[in-house]
Amino acid sequence: MKRFPDGFLWGGATAANQIEGAYKEGGKGLSTADVSPDGIMSPFHETDDALNLYHDAIDFYHRYQEDIALFAEMGFKAFRTSIAWTRIFPNGDETEPNEEGLQFYDRLFDELRKHQIEPVVTISHYEMPLGLVKNYGGWRNRRTVDFYERYARTVFTRYKDKVKYWMTFNEINVVLHAPFTGGGLIFREGENKQNTMYQAAHHQFVASALAVKAGHEIIPDSQIGCMIAATTTYPMTPKPEDVYAALQKERSTLFFSDVQARGSYPGYMKRFFKENGITIEMKEGDEALLKEHTVDYIGFSYYMSMTASTAPEDLAQSKGNLLGGVKNPYLKSSEWGWQIDPKGLRITLNTLYDRYQKPLFIVENGLGAVDQPEEDGSIQDDYRINYLRDHLIEAREAIEDGVDLIGYTSWGPIDLVSASTAEMKKRYGYIYVDRGNDGKGTFERKKKKSFYWYKDVIATNGESL
Ligand code: BG6
Repeated sequence: MKRFPDGFLWGGATAANQIEGAYKEGGKGLSTADVSPDGIMSPFHETDDALNLYHDAIDFYHRYQEDIALFAEMGFKAFRTSIAWTRIFPNGDETEPNEEGLQFYDRLFDELRKHQIEPVVTISHYEMPLGLVKNYGGWRNRRTVDFYERYARTVFTRYKDKVKYWMTFNEINVVLHAPFTGGGLIFREGENKQNTMYQAAHHQFVASALAVKAGHEIIPDSQIGCMIAATTTYPMTPKPEDVYAALQKERSTLFFSDVQARGSYPGYMKRFFKENGITIEMKEGDEALLKEHTVDYIGFSYYMSMTASTAPEDLAQSKGNLLGGVKNPYLKSSEWGWQIDPKGLRITLNTLYDRYQKPLFIVENGLGAVDQPEEDGSIQDDYRINYLRDHLIEAREAIEDGVDLIGYTSWGPIDLVSASTAEMKKRYGYIYVDRGNDGKGTFERKKKKSFYWYKDVIATNGESL
């Protein structure tokens, strides 16, 4: 019988800005999400009167007890969320943290522990303080590293007895694809955008290494991971040029985990920088820091695979959360055009494990779909069950292949505001939330068919799949 390991961290994953709401309560400052009513892929633009669903999100800030009870009913072993940086340091550059914000997460983590649910915490998930963007230029500025380190040290110290699993940045490779959300970057006229994005990435690498160092000092039994949006890429044909194009596309993501897991800039990136006139300013000691403080595990999101070609403009295109690509004729797509590829998850797990030989954690995976309640009010989301089942079967195969997989937290166990399109209509949950794209609804929670299915998967440690 193929099995998931004992102690496997079954659960669900969210981010503060997509669930909490209460965007001005408890002394919270404004974050990048609070001014992005169109979603994370949009560059910054002033939109004061636009409806921004992140502002109230699903009101988790006030309803977390009810929601955690539902997660516990499903048997969750782990729950991934992020701390909203702006609840702790409202503008980002304060010297003292906001006590009210710290208390909220005390209550949240205590509630999880009460139900024996392990908190898995992302330190920064698409919600950096707007103050750091406006006053310092976001991650282009080296000073942001100091602010982040102060924030990380503050939360490690405060929650050292409550949180053992941490991730330093959500989808750290997003800075190249959504520079405002990923890096707090608003480009200046005439600047070399690529250079700025890679410089911001360097500052995040340094910040991440400093967080790993601090985390290990403050919480000796902690596990501190990186988090990338996996972009597993196939060549469109066996033509060597297509194979090379796929390798390069994949490397544009693996570069981020290479630096964080292996501790140095890979040769292929040094060449890329040289050939593209990119100069990264490093301080003395940066390279040693990166080398000494690599991550303990690799967290990643996986929704789809991609396909690359040397002549992409002649071919049909597919979409994705960060990156699109050429349409793969062998795959079906979700309603949002993301290509569904369970086997790609097994390939991703094997590729990452072969490369790093470090524990892996699937911290996001799931199907965004429109749910249509039946006349009796039930939600028969078999499409979601099928997606998740097919992916979990491949994850189990990868474990059989020898991959050290420590957990699976599916994305959005409760419906939440989507990141790329900032809407409610795209739902991932086992739990339905009554709220629409127009911002109307009661916030009432309702169990979907997948709720009972996932409960059974967890109860049997995957044997029911
Ligand atoms: C990942 C993000 O890119 O994809 C999440 O880490 C996001 O924040 C998830 O919600 C799904 O994307 P979307 O656009 O469907 O919400």
